[in-house]
Amino acid sequence: MRDIIIAGNWKMNKDLDAVRAFCKAIAGGLKGKVLGRVLPIIAPTYPFLALMQREFAGSPFRVAAQDTSSHPDGAFTGEVSATMLASLGLQYCIVGHSERRAYHHESNETIREKVLAVMDSGMKPILCIGETLEQRDGGITDQVILEQLDGCMRGVRVYTGKELILAYEPVWAIGTGRNATGEQAQEVHRQIRKWLADQYNKELADNLSILYGGSVKPQNLTELLAMPDIDGGLIGGASLDPESFLKMVDIAINYK
Ligand code: 13P
Repeated sequence: MRDIIIAGNWKMNKDLDAVRAFCKAIAGGLKGKVLGRVLPIIAPTYPFLALMQREFAGSPFRVAAQDTSSHPDGAFTGEVSATMLASLGLQYCIVGHSERRAYHHESNETIREKVLAVMDSGMKPILCIGETLEQRDGGITDQVILEQLDGCMRGVRVYTGKELILAYEPVWAIGTGRNATGEQAQEVHRQIRKWLADQYNKELADNLSILYGGSVKPQNLTELLAMPDIDGGLIGGASLDPESFLKMVDIAINYK
């Protein structure tokens, strides 16, 4: 049985007051909800991780980091290690987001090191992969996805499929309002699951949650969740508003 994950990636949004207001709204909104297999996660910026972790202690709601260093510790000004994040009690950390790849020149190899650092710390990576519009138009989406999987997952030991989450985020769909259709996303998710079955085994592939990200909102989530290999969303803009986030949690609860 796979988890259905509604994960908000806040990117560089919200100050302290806004984070507090969101926590208050969400805590009230989640009260009494039977989540079943649905796992709500929010990834705020570093300064607010501890606050949110405290706020939701003992609840099924999870807090994630948006990135981490690949180094364990030392002279890396501005960086935060996976063990530091894990010491807050965090269980999840996004790695390989396309914005890190594009603006911080992160290679598949760097991302692989981050995946290993996150897993070594005891947290689960939410590993992002996805093609650009140019690559899609050039007909090389499959090749890019497989290269990213091979590069970021080389030597990564996964046994049950519960140690890691994958997120397919086509770059052309991020923040553009133009989401992949259910069919377009499903086709890539199917390939990813096949790759997992080939590289590891079918049981593991069947257990591992694969999220779709890119302009997900309450209006298109149902269509995406209807696809057999889509197990939730990694959501930017539409996760910032508590009402919209709770609506997506509700859609997931009622859907699968
Ligand atoms: P949007 O939902 O704003 O398109 O962002 C998607 C994303 O990048 C989540 O990581």
